[in-house]
Formats: sequence, structure tokens, C-alpha cells
Amino acid sequence: MTQRLLRGRLLTFHREPLSGEDSGAYTYLEDGALLIQDGIIQDTGPFTEISAKAGDVPITDHRPHLMMAGFIDTHIHFPQVQVIASWGAQLLDWLNNYTFPEETRFASDAHSATMARAFFDQLVTHGTTTAVAYCSVHKTSADAFFTEATRRNMRMLGGKVLMDRNAPEGLQDTPQTGYDDTKALIADWHGKGRNGYVITPRFAITSTPEQMAMAQALAQEHPDCHIQTHLSENKDEIAFTKQLYPQARDYLDVYQSHGLLGQKTLLGHSIHLEPREIDALAETGAHPVFCPTSNLFLGSGLFDHGGLSARGISNGIATDVGAGTSYSMLQTLNEGYKILQLQGLALHPLQAFHWATRGNACVLGLEDKIGNLDPGTEADVVVLNARSTSAMALRMDRVGSLAEELFVLQMMGDDRAIEEVYVSGAPSKSVSGQNSETNFEFDPV
Ligand code: GUN
Ligand code: FE
Repeated sequence: MTQRLLRGRLLTFHREPLSGEDSGAYTYLEDGALLIQDGIIQDTGPFTEISAKAGDVPITDHRPHLMMAGFIDTHIHFPQVQVIASWGAQLLDWLNNYTFPEETRFASDAHSATMARAFFDQLVTHGTTTAVAYCSVHKTSADAFFTEATRRNMRMLGGKVLMDRNAPEGLQDTPQTGYDDTKALIADWHGKGRNGYVITPRFAITSTPEQMAMAQALAQEHPDCHIQTHLSENKDEIAFTKQLYPQARDYLDVYQSHGLLGQKTLLGHSIHLEPREIDALAETGAHPVFCPTSNLFLGSGLFDHGGLSARGISNGIATDVGAGTSYSMLQTLNEGYKILQLQGLALHPLQAFHWATRGNACVLGLEDKIGNLDPGTEADVVVLNARSTSAMALRMDRVGSLAEELFVLQMMGDDRAIEEVYVSGAPSKSVSGQNSETNFEFDPV
């Protein structure tokens, strides 16, 4: 049995704050404690109370920093760690010119394993303790992803993409091989340790109707798996999709008519939606995922968080690296704030930090395990320092409330603001240099 006690300022959410004044939505303790045992939060409360009950336990004192549940990234591409920051294109050209050629390299076991180490190092460094990832079409990329997640004991979701057309030859499966590889990956990884498999038809353009039917079979055979795909990110993408699926009522109907919509479905982007599509999202409980840095980077459009929320649709928020330009959920909230400002909506920092933690956990149906610091949940914790740069420290000298401090973190913070990260109770950022990005063999293109 390993126990440790973390001391620091503590913030955890119980529900989504209705406004900045909604103090019943969260608990904030100036001198708080988390008692962790075997990777699970045993107890939480004021430090004096918890330490008296805990007895002789090693204490790590993080004051004056802020402890919070680890960040959750609900849409990211593992094989795009070397695609991020590729110049000048919008979605379809960006995929064809940069992304697809890069993803062909993940046919190699060694390359997949090396990049998995680098990918997880980046997640931890940026305070992300759970991610929902797209792997490449190659089974080996998903094996590398789950092998590394297991080694680090991180709660990770992911799947190999299904794609059988409109991509280079080295990046296509067939309806049958895509089905067989997915079945094998589910058998090997789903529900093993903290891993969850996600059935992943990449998007309508890269899957034939035959492959969509196979995805439907997989979803029916494995109703406990999540499903992820892309929806209505870009106008040219939508037009091409309508050509490829002329019988579909709209883009979403490609997925809906194949039985792929439900509460476990994550739909990246969902920007340019028609009224019927919004009705269908509300009826099925599927979740749009807002990817602010990506939507700005590719010039895709402005996500209507206010309109969708008003329909009772619950949206995830995510980086979408490598079209996204940062692994940081702080920077993701920063750009998200600006996109909503352009639409007349001011996202309160308490709502923003709820979104990146418990909100995304709810979207995944995992709020009993992650996204908050309640006893019985898994001990994935970030420690945030709002004075991590000189510019932030200067601003912090004039900050007088928790909400203001959170907003400084949201607008100015990045990996430097992440003091420490605990994964299943184990300190992980301070030790990540041991498998770090600088260690892998440089493989010139
Ligand atoms: N649509 C299909 N594949 C992708 C991808 O890799 N990134 C983004 N942003 N959109 C996609
Ligand atoms: Fe994406």
C-alpha cells in the first residue's frame, strides 16, 4: 500500500457553474489536502483535518500553487506530433499535403513506439492526464499507443482510424481488415487497466459505405466502446461528402444512417451544422467537440457553443493536435474564449476550468472516475502556478480573486504553468525527463 498526502490550494467542481457567482458548483480550499492511496483519492478536505486523520504519511506541500483534476483532451491525433505547425493550407489540402504522408510512417513498429513516448511526454508536460486519440490506420500505431498508456498507467482512450479511400495507398485498410484489426485491438486493450477502445471511422470522405457498415457492426458488437469521427469542419469537406453520399440527408446522416450516433459518440468540430443535424444531435445525445486552436489555424469557422448548449447538447473541448497548435488545454481555453467572444459570449473562467476537467469527463461518461477530486476517483491531479512567467507574475500582483487567477492561467498559461502532474497518484511531470522527447533517435525525413 502506498499513501501520500498532497497539500495546497485545492479546487474541484461538482457541477457546471451557471455563472461566476455559482459558488455551489465547486469547492475551493485555501489550505487543502488530498490523501491518495494506491492511485485513488481516499479523502479530501482542509489540510489540518485530513492530516490529523491520516497519521504518519509523507506530505508534499504544493502551496501556494493550485491543485485541480488533471485536464482531459477529448480529440487529439497521436500520429500528428510532427505535423503540428504545417503552413498555409485549409483542411483537405492540409490532410493531403502534410498529414497523410506523415501518418504513413506509422506502419513502422519502431517509429510508432518512439512517437508514442514523445506524445505521452507532451501530454503530461502540459497537464493532460486523459486524452481521446486517433491513431493511424496501422494496427501497430494503436498497439504502441496503448502499450505506452499502460506503462504510464494513464486513463487513455483511442483507436486506429478506419479509412479505405481518398488517401495514399500506404494509408488505407479495407472494410474487412479494418474490422479485423479493430476486433483484435478491442480484445487486446479495451477495459484492460485504464484503457478504453474508441471505434474510429476517420470521416465520411475516407470511408466507403461498405466500411461505414463495418463500423456499424463494430458499434453494435461493442456498445461499451466510444465512437469518434469528424463532422462539418470545412465547407469543401461538406460538399465532397455530399457528393460521396448522395442519398444522405446531410453530413450527419452519413453517421446517423449507420447507427453511429449515441451518448458515447464524439464528433470533432461540428461547425457548419444544418437545423436537422442539430435536432439529431439533441435527440441522440451525441457530443460535438470544440477544437478552437485547430478551427482558427485551418480557418475552419466559429463553433456555436452557445447555440448548441441552449439545445441541451453537451460539447467537449479539445486540442486537435496536429491541426491544433498547442497541447495545452490552457491555451485551448484561451483561444476558445476568443472564438466565443466573436459571437458575443463571455465564457467565465470557472466554466472554462470546469469544461477542461469535469465537463469533458461528463462528455465521456467518466465523471465517476476522472475530472474531479472526490474520494473514490482516480488520483490524476495537476498543480498550477499562475506566476510561472514574469508577465504572469506582474499581472498576478493585481489579482484579488480565484476567478481572476484562473483567467490569468487561461489566457497566459501553458506548460510552464504546470508545476507537477500526478498520474494514478504518482508524480509524473518531474520524472518525465527520464523518457523524454530528447531521448529518441532522430530520424530525418
Ligand atoms: N478530418 C479528417 N481527418 C482529420 C484530421 O486529421 N484533422 C482534422 N482537423 N480534421 C480531420
Ligand atoms: Fe481531428
